[in-house]
Amino acid sequence: MRTAVYPGSFDPVTFGHLDILDRAIPIFDRVIVGVLANPSKEPLFTVQERIELLRTVIEGKANVEVTSFDGLTVDFAQAAGAIAIVRGLRVLSDFESEFQMALMNRRLNPSVNTVFLMTSFSNVFVSSSIIKEVCRLGGDVSEAVPPASVDAMRRKFGLEQRS
Ligand code: PNS
Repeated sequence: MRTAVYPGSFDPVTFGHLDILDRAIPIFDRVIVGVLANPSKEPLFTVQERIELLRTVIEGKANVEVTSFDGLTVDFAQAAGAIAIVRGLRVLSDFESEFQMALMNRRLNPSVNTVFLMTSFSNVFVSSSIIKEVCRLGGDVSEAVPPASVDAMRRKFGLEQRS
């Protein structure tokens, strides 16, 4: 049984995240999406809200679970019996911080490898932080995030729901 963890903030889940997840699913027997519960950045959504959104949008995907974790990602991976940490790469600027994180994670636990998957071209510029800003200011983000994320953000920002 080859298990991978896919850790992140998912604040909220975007089509970029789902793209990476869809690429990881055929590679592993089980993928556990891990929502970081104690981030240094202030999230828009609570951990429970982020988990519920993820569960809504992954409905129907086989062998995927969603949970939260705190502490080190390598400890989360080890506890889950995972052989890999999945991370998505979009643009070159992701690479430096991801490389640093992967090397640190390897130093912390050499038995867990980081597997980088490239996002599709359409998601290259999709990031949760940009999406939140555009949505908060009334812009249309429906091409970048699933409808459940759009609705949840608009509720948070006190904007009308779109029909
Ligand atoms: O979606 P994000 O915000 O890019 O995800 C970042 C995340 C959650 C993968 C990273 O911050 C992380 O792994 N945090 C857990 C704490 C940890 O293990 N830190 C050491 C990594 S070098």
